[in-house]
Amino acid sequence: MTDLNGRRILVGVCGGIAAYKSAELLRLLRRQGAEVRVVMTSSATRFVTPLTFQALSGQPVANDLFDDPMAHIELARWAEAIIVAPASATTLARLAHGLADDLLSAIGLATEAPLVLAPAMNQAMWRNPATQANVALLRQRACLLLGPAEGEQACGETGPGRMLEPAELVEALAGLFQPPLLSRRTVLVTAGPTREALDPVRFLSNRSSGKMGYALAEAAARAGAEVILVSGPVSLAPPPGVECVQVESAAQMREAVLARVDVCDIFIAAAAVADYRPAHRAEEKIKKSAETLRLELVRNADILAEVAKRSPRPFCVGFAAETENLADNAQAKLNAKQLDMIAANWVGPLAEREHTGFDSDHNALHVYTRDSDTLLRKSSKGHIAEQLIELIARHYHERYSAQDSRPPHRQ
Ligand code: PMT
Repeated sequence: MTDLNGRRILVGVCGGIAAYKSAELLRLLRRQGAEVRVVMTSSATRFVTPLTFQALSGQPVANDLFDDPMAHIELARWAEAIIVAPASATTLARLAHGLADDLLSAIGLATEAPLVLAPAMNQAMWRNPATQANVALLRQRACLLLGPAEGEQACGETGPGRMLEPAELVEALAGLFQPPLLSRRTVLVTAGPTREALDPVRFLSNRSSGKMGYALAEAAARAGAEVILVSGPVSLAPPPGVECVQVESAAQMREAVLARVDVCDIFIAAAAVADYRPAHRAEEKIKKSAETLRLELVRNADILAEVAKRSPRPFCVGFAAETENLADNAQAKLNAKQLDMIAANWVGPLAEREHTGFDSDHNALHVYTRDSDTLLRKSSKGHIAEQLIELIARHYHERYSAQDSRPPHRQ
């Protein structure tokens, strides 16, 4: 028995070269015991024939909105989950804007089932601000975006736009039917950079975009947790259902965290907090005069270390952003700060070449606890966040199972 056994899954297939992979997706879903129905867009039928999906699903394939005027409502009600794979740029746009001019988009509008989208398209089409705006809208409405992965594309270009592998999609779909991993738990996440003011118009900061921390907040909320996100200045919309506290400086982030951490079971420090701040903040804009200007910096408090020192304390997960000796430096931080877990990622030129780390849509993590070492291979930050939240939940429950799964301060 699997989590998909007997589940009613509607697979939407859009036009794109990745449509051939949907045949394998169907095969895997059937093998897990799911009941599958397929809806194809007209463009999809140009790539793969409906007959292929009919043979694999054992059901007629629906395509035309007007073949049966009630089909969109019936299928929308029938499905326990809908996965659109591949999801083309056009269908993402239709779904984001509530258009219902073909069968698949009409079902998307009519359904109350979870909507899972596995985009696949040329990398420039994926990066286009129009597509990114549509994706942001869909995320805000709690659609689950899986991928795309990066790599060589059918058009000969390289970049983000490949559909995730069918096995990864099936695993994520099965997750929808598992009991929430973190229900009745509160998770506090920090995200983004901090800004340390030099004068009224200038500040010291870093390249953090907040994408990793926001993806973690979203994944924790999906896992059933109450989530508080303390965020430095970024240009991302808070994930649905997450309480977001906006701050600027490291001192403000520390204050916001310490004011809320006592109600939390798990603390995840994904923010890139400035280690130093200017000793003096000039009242007026600093004038250009001398050839050189010396800045005196003073240490900021380490928020994560301070939370980990509290007693009682939440389950503490740190991040380590490293340009060298990833494993040694991360493990040193795990021990020095007395953390339960640390997620280490490369940053700097090496990461830039790989399109991971700061301000990218992808990441790869080495996750250490005192007695384990797990590699989360390069994937979208959304997928990495889901895997990390699963890992955190597993270690958290193991740690506190003898105490009703709660850190001492929450009993
Ligand atoms: O935001 P993105 O563009 O998506 O990029 C993601 C990321 C690279 C910023 C993220 O994955 C990451 O690595 N975050 C931690 C960055 C960092 O500051 O690492 P660090 O090795 O300098 O700090 C170690 C840990 O201490 C971190 O958990 C940090 O949040 C915490 N810290 C550091 C300093 C400080 N004063 N207070 C802290 O809490």
